[in-house]
Amino acid sequence: MTQRRVLIIYFSHSGQTRKLIQALAKGLEKSSVEVNLLQLKTVEPIQFPLQSVLATFKLMVVTFFRKRFAIQPVERSLVDGHDLIVLAGPTWSYNVSGPILSFFNNYGEYLADCKVLPLISCRGYWRTHYWQLKYLLTKYKAHPLAPTVFLHPGAEPWRTIGVFLKLAGKKPEASPSWLARYYRKFGHTREQVEHAAEIGMALGKALQEAKLDGYREFAGVQKTGGISANLVKS
Ligand SMILES: Cc1cc2nc3c(=O)[nH]c(=O)nc-3n(C[C@H](O)[C@H](O)[C@H](O)COP(=O)(O)O)c2cc1C
Repeated sequence: MTQRRVLIIYFSHSGQTRKLIQALAKGLEKSSVEVNLLQLKTVEPIQFPLQSVLATFKLMVVTFFRKRFAIQPVERSLVDGHDLIVLAGPTWSYNVSGPILSFFNNYGEYLADCKVLPLISCRGYWRTHYWQLKYLLTKYKAHPLAPTVFLHPGAEPWRTIGVFLKLAGKKPEASPSWLARYYRKFGHTREQVEHAAEIGMALGKALQEAKLDGYREFAGVQKTGGISANLVKS
């Protein structure tokens, strides 16, 4: 059996996407798939956390208007020759993040004819991000698969407030803040990371058996308080 090859192209600002794709990669490797990682790096580093509430607010505004963030060059040879591409990154103000938008602008044609699985890390709102990705992938003649989505756990409005404050460099989850009673953790849980590894294994198996086309989205509420849409066989 020929070994399948998966490329994970990702951008991660605060490390959440990174931990998910690392687990996904481990799961894929357990299914004997070769995995290559391609991290998109911005030309101007974007600090995490940001310097202040004002800087966070400004970033929210510019990303709402889909500002592109220039990325370092990506060689075509790194992308070619894979059976599947996972395109992973965070939602930014309901949109695809600026570095991934730049990737499409500059290198979108690299994805032509490729099967692409979007992986989204977000606080809680991912649909417009996914619709944009689907549009862009189709525009560049790629074949988008159903997305895998990981939400931060926790209830609103605390989750939104907590993520904003965390981005601004505060510690909303730390006692003695009154907010800590409602906002326990920034980012994905250990269970979600384990889930990403399981998805990797299932994906690897599907790839080995050449059954990827039979997979579709499943949005399941996890007991951990997050929701993960993942792949189930139709
Ligand atoms: C500028 C900015 C805007 C964001 N906007 C949204 C949003 O509209 N919806 C959402 O669910 N999460 C939003 N988030 C939260 C991130 O998607 C979330 O924290 C994600 O897990 C970050 O992944 P990363 O650490 O890989 O960058 C935003 C984060 C930033 C920095």
